Amino acid sequence: MNRMGVVGCGVMGAGVAEIGAKGGCDVVVVDMFPEALEKAQARMAASLAKAEEKGKLGEPAANILARIRWSSDLADLADREFVTEVIRESLDDKVELIGRLDDILSDDAIIASNTSSIPIAQLAAASRIPGRVLGTHYFNPVPVMPLVEVVSAIQTDPSVADRTAEFCADVLGKKVIRAKDRSGFVVNAILVPYLLDAIRSLENGVASKEDIDEGMVSGCGMPMGPLTLCDMIGLDTMLLVSESLYAEHLEHRFAPPALLKRHVEAGMFGRKSGRGFYDYS
Ligand code: 3HC
Repeated sequence: MNRMGVVGCGVMGAGVAEIGAKGGCDVVVVDMFPEALEKAQARMAASLAKAEEKGKLGEPAANILARIRWSSDLADLADREFVTEVIRESLDDKVELIGRLDDILSDDAIIASNTSSIPIAQLAAASRIPGRVLGTHYFNPVPVMPLVEVVSAIQTDPSVADRTAEFCADVLGKKVIRAKDRSGFVVNAILVPYLLDAIRSLENGVASKEDIDEGMVSGCGMPMGPLTLCDMIGLDTMLLVSESLYAEHLEHRFAPPALLKRHVEAGMFGRKSGRGFYDYS
């Protein structure tokens, strides 16, 4: 597989497009919002410039960028072999998109979802060829974090999962783990309760946000504190993920704390909106 498509170019989508182009693929990125495409191009150019400066690229960043086409028309994905959807975490939006991709792509193209918490079976059920749908869950920042979880739904054709795992490892340069189709897969099912506990600690007045973060960085060797990480993931995303996990498992550890909901209602989404638990303005 060499012709890759990416739908949705927020932070995660741009990251997936970047590793695809870095791996030598011809990449088409589609987002219906022209300003999102512009932002993603700037973000990717900065990310690649940083990698180039540190000697992390095997070729000039300009060559990598030249392998990417940017579009706001889904029809430009018609000849793609491997399409990853990285749109917002909404079942309705993803189901609608998969239906539209079905009309555009050839029958042997693979549709991968970067959902972090929606069961893949629900997405596969939206396709007229459910066997071609699976999950590929990346981690933020995608060009830096080595992992991808490859998730098969009960409908996924095993050869689609095998080809995808091989592609992620050999072309995208990722470490692959296989996960069952349970909301949260392997990593978020463990990580999200930890992050929600940090929010609950803040809510309960156990310590200041700075001290909660310092505790986990200096006490446990985490690369960043949990509240800083929540701001990086996006508090709106954190809320959607925790709601999906709670709906699936019905366990208190996945329930969104009121403080998280209040931040989202206030439009404080974290780094992307300039303010979350911390102020980035
Ligand atoms: N391509 C390749 N390498 C790159 C790169 C790029 N575009 N951009 C940066 N790098 C390299 C840098 O050269 C550097 O390498 P070095 O260590 O050999 O010098 C390395 O990546 C780290 O980059 P930075 O120096 O810019 O970053 P920091 O050292 O400040 O670390 C961080 C930043 C990587 C974000 C670190 O704080 C971290 O690991 N934080 C935790 C992130 C995390 O937990 N992510 C998962 C979130 S959960 C998720 O995404 C799932 C979702 O579903 C919720």
